[in-house]
Amino acid sequence: MNAPIGVFDSGIGGLTVAKEIMRQIPGESLVYFGDTARVPYGSKSKNTVCKYSKQIAKFLLTQDVKAIVIACNTASALAREELEDMVDVPVIDVVQPGARMAASTKNNKIGVIGTQSTIKSGIYESYLHKINPELTVVSKACPLFVPLVEEGLFEDRITEDVVSRYLHDMKEYEIDALVLGCTHYPLLRGVIGREMGESVKLVNPAYETAKSLKDLLKEKDLLNVSGEKPEHKFFVSDGVDQFRSFANSILPYQVENTTVVDIESY
Ligand code: DGL
Repeated sequence: MNAPIGVFDSGIGGLTVAKEIMRQIPGESLVYFGDTARVPYGSKSKNTVCKYSKQIAKFLLTQDVKAIVIACNTASALAREELEDMVDVPVIDVVQPGARMAASTKNNKIGVIGTQSTIKSGIYESYLHKINPELTVVSKACPLFVPLVEEGLFEDRITEDVVSRYLHDMKEYEIDALVLGCTHYPLLRGVIGREMGESVKLVNPAYETAKSLKDLLKEKDLLNVSGEKPEHKFFVSDGVDQFRSFANSILPYQVENTTVVDIESY
């Protein structure tokens, strides 16, 4: 089926998920929506994030998407069930695939980092304990990581200081897997990896999500087998230029056009 896949995020971070989808399922077209006018979601309430996510899902359905990927961890944590009830296409979030991957830890001690709202929701713990009730899960919100990534400070002394400040205590728990439970964090994996040490496996939910999406499309017979070249479309709620330059710095695809959508009207 050559309908596109809808992917959304609170802003630019979900492009890390779009990138993985393009890499793992290169035949699929994407419609990406970044809510750049209302970012961040990570400090907002469930009510607000659900309202925003539903508006975006309504918009994506106008683009005839065959599935929706919630690329944002915060929206996955707070709005997945509401979206599933609302739409009649498959919905994939980033939390469940990330938790599944992390659960294959060797010493049963897992760390989870994310935005304040994701960590407060306890969603990763709850999925992880469903998979294995024996797991010890240590969670920590790292709110300053998002602005550091948005400023492009992937490798910088300031980033090293902030990463060390947030993660220093977590090292005492001797975790052997750390879930990068926010769209932006995979872009800091160099600094985070050095702080945590080689024995800690960094789990990128974006990678697992693209894998789960591929399996789901196969299972539901929705893969694009037309052989036509995929066509990607990008939409935002504000800040076209900043979005496009970030997108072109991380995607294996040249983004020429980005369209602003009045998302409040959905
Ligand atoms: N996309 C968000 C997430 O993965 C991070 C940015 C935000 O706070 O909106 O949780």
